[in-house]
Amino acid sequence: MIWRTSLFLSVTLFLFVGGSHIEGPKHGKVAVCYVASWAMFRKPPLNFAISDIDPTLCTHIVYAFAGLDGESHTIKSLNQWLDIEQDSGNAAYKNLTDIKKNYPHIKVTLSLGGWNEGSVKFSTMASDKWKRVRFIRSVTQYLVKYDFDGLDIMWKYPTMRGGSPDDKENFVTLIKELKEAFLPYGYILSATLGNTRGVMSTAYDLVSLNRYLDLIHVIGYDYNGPWDKIVGASAPLRGLNKRDENNVEYTIKYMLSFGVSPDKLVLGIQFLGRTFILKDPGVKVIDFSKTEAEIKGFSGPYLNGTNMYAYNEVCLDLKNNSKWVYYWDKVSSTPYLRDGSRIVSYDDTRSIANKVKLAMDYNLAGFMIWSIDMDDFKGVCDMPNDTYTDFIERVSDITKDKLWQDSVKNLNSQADLEGKIYGTLRDKLILRIPKKNFKNYPLLRTIHEAIDITVEEKKIADAMKLVSTSLREGSRVSETQTPCYRTCSEVCFYGPGH
Ligand SMILES: *[C@@H]1O[C@H](CO)[C@@H](O)[C@H](O)[C@H]1NC(C)=O
Ligand SMILES: *[C@@H]1O[C@H](CO)[C@@H](O)[C@H](O)[C@H]1NC(C)=O
Ligand SMILES: *[C@@H]1O[C@H](CO)[C@@H](O)[C@H](O)[C@H]1NC(C)=O
Ligand SMILES: *[C@@H]1O[C@H](CO)[C@@H](O)[C@H](O)[C@H]1NC(C)=O
Repeated sequence: MIWRTSLFLSVTLFLFVGGSHIEGPKHGKVAVCYVASWAMFRKPPLNFAISDIDPTLCTHIVYAFAGLDGESHTIKSLNQWLDIEQDSGNAAYKNLTDIKKNYPHIKVTLSLGGWNEGSVKFSTMASDKWKRVRFIRSVTQYLVKYDFDGLDIMWKYPTMRGGSPDDKENFVTLIKELKEAFLPYGYILSATLGNTRGVMSTAYDLVSLNRYLDLIHVIGYDYNGPWDKIVGASAPLRGLNKRDENNVEYTIKYMLSFGVSPDKLVLGIQFLGRTFILKDPGVKVIDFSKTEAEIKGFSGPYLNGTNMYAYNEVCLDLKNNSKWVYYWDKVSSTPYLRDGSRIVSYDDTRSIANKVKLAMDYNLAGFMIWSIDMDDFKGVCDMPNDTYTDFIERVSDITKDKLWQDSVKNLNSQADLEGKIYGTLRDKLILRIPKKNFKNYPLLRTIHEAIDITVEEKKIADAMKLVSTSLREGSRVSETQTPCYRTCSEVCFYGPGH
């Protein structure tokens, strides 16, 4: 009896504990979490360990980066001591892929390339059938050996940086052959693509890439940086004007209209900012895309020498009551900080929530995060309280609208049945913003939360349409009624005693 009880208890406990751990996001969108391996070497407290990953917040984990050997045309580790277990290494590959044991929803893939791997080695390998054969064989062997679930190719960029014009076609051939080789293994094949019109039109045959790739990650940032010698939003949501092509919305529209399926397109979101030093420190008002800057920015205290400021550096700085003054740029929907001549243009929970809304409006597959090690993964910073400002504003604009108010009144003056409909509508017409009770991963958690809230907002918009339709039908009815009837019925519904 005692034995039975304890067995029962331990089974229940196992199910309970196990059940609370094995699940991923429920909203059906992908959350592709990049981990930058070099983040493990950052100074504490921002040194990132694989044990800092919260697998419930990701559907895919992508390890960056593996390299391409220019002599043998094979995939290789860029840091054996870190990646590989053998010879008392740090076993990053094994630690990552072991996550799947407790979290079976997770796919762990390996990203090949990145800015520092350049373009030339890819160009050479992709241009020759036998080099591609060697490469592809090395990749499948590598993925099998280290238990990955697929490959991400981050070739920056075909036809550019020393590449050849043939890269556009050869890239498709490479992707097609990789996909064919992956089929027996069920491996995922993704590629991370650039975002400017120049890169998108020159480097990619999007229709063909879309045929063979499982997921297409598009970089939704790096639109502006100190290299332009002008201050700009690092990841603007929308353009400054109709002709502006340097923004997330333009990139999404371009990708979709040139053959990428929305259910394969994954919007990349940065967890970092770009820095600028003003040419004239006396400038009073910063005008994105006009105010002049030096060609080099500056670096956060932990991301040394990169002209970048990670989100976790920004939030630590803000927590430390530094001299930063916070601004919100409405047009680009991004925050920036200023301290004298220094500017950081970055993304926070509010700008990220707005990006989620946009991507949801285009019904994209989900989100790619570069990179989760730059979130406040330990939860040491304060939570922003303005994340859904723009959501709340949109919904309250709807309910302030004259048409809306008339229609509500009108519905109230209709028969019981419609009154009941309005009753249920009224319950729906409140945008429920969950209370912030999380501490760590504020940005990553915002992505998931904003997906759910966007769905809620859409329900409100749909309810609005229903009400407007009722108004149109209702006003037809009231036109045939005398003014007296209207007044009477309104008093009947609103008047004392009811
Ligand atoms: C992998 O896990 C082992 C054992 O827990 C640990 O010693 C090692 O530091 C981990 N490696 C990385 C890169 O996190
Ligand atoms: C940052 O880089 C400078 C020069 O490259 C070096 O002297 C300094 O030690 C580095 N700091 C850190 C924290 O890595
Ligand atoms: C914040 O202040 C603490 C001491 O109060 C210091 O140790 C830390 O380095 C500061 N962080 C940043 C990002 O400046
Ligand atoms: C939000 O936080 C800021 C400072 O972080 C504070 O000044 C403001 O009062 C807060 N607003 C609300 C509504 O809590």
